[in-house]
Amino acid sequence: MSEKLRIDIMTLFPEFVDFILSESIIGRARRAGTLDIRAHNIRDYSEDKHRRVDDTPYGGGRGMLMAAPPIYRCYKAIEENIRSSSENAEENKPYVIYMSPRGRVFTNEYAKELSEKGNLVILCGHYEGVDERLIEEIVDEEVSIGDYVLTGGEVPACIVADAVGRLVDGVLTLPECHENESFEGGLLEYPQYTRPAVWMGREVPDVLLSGHHANIDKWRHEKSVEITKERRPDLLEKK
Ligand SMILES: C[S@@+](CC[C@H](N)C(=O)[O-])C[C@H]1O[C@@H](n2cnc3c(N)ncnc32)[C@H](O)[C@@H]1O
Repeated sequence: MSEKLRIDIMTLFPEFVDFILSESIIGRARRAGTLDIRAHNIRDYSEDKHRRVDDTPYGGGRGMLMAAPPIYRCYKAIEENIRSSSENAEENKPYVIYMSPRGRVFTNEYAKELSEKGNLVILCGHYEGVDERLIEEIVDEEVSIGDYVLTGGEVPACIVADAVGRLVDGVLTLPECHENESFEGGLLEYPQYTRPAVWMGREVPDVLLSGHHANIDKWRHEKSVEITKERRPDLLEKK
């Protein structure tokens, strides 16, 4: 788990991102100062009198593209803010990801890698995407949340910020919450039950009521393997 993480999100819809990331566990961690997440409006960095940030693509074709200059200015302002608030500027150079269907597919392992970055900047695209030169200039990696196309990078950015944020020390009240979670150790999670012990005629498995911890652990592991084999055999092959 990482000890400290600042996430800056560059977007055309900062209120949307802020709203999603203000609720529940992530919201509490932000209010407590455990997690530093800031949403920036790229439009604030437009020099156009109508605050435009998009333009038609060279070569023709449908749709609009996000232009490089406003995003670059937004990024430089973030970089400068990080530099001025840290002692070791080089060490705190942000790792920049661009949410994109062309990117590396996001997984729990990748979330762990990103949680170690210290400073993470997430760029949300919109329209048909962003000018390629901007990607070449500032982006370290493109990240996809799956093989489908969404209208914007805001939902993907919130998914990444949530999955990465919960890995930061102190965000989850019980650190061991991570340990048995799906994908930890290459397995999906076992079934879980809470009161009442009988519901709609369905009983909680006896072993979970036995108080015998070794048997409970064994049962849970077997169920994890069974479910993974049935639903995600690819995970078992990797393991
Ligand atoms: C309509 S999409 C652009 C798709 C782009 N023209 C393409 O074909 O790859 C607009 C924005 O949504 C975001 N987006 C869409 N699908 C995504 C995915 N699967 N993973 C991550 N970001 C996605 C990206 O930020 C993208 O720039």
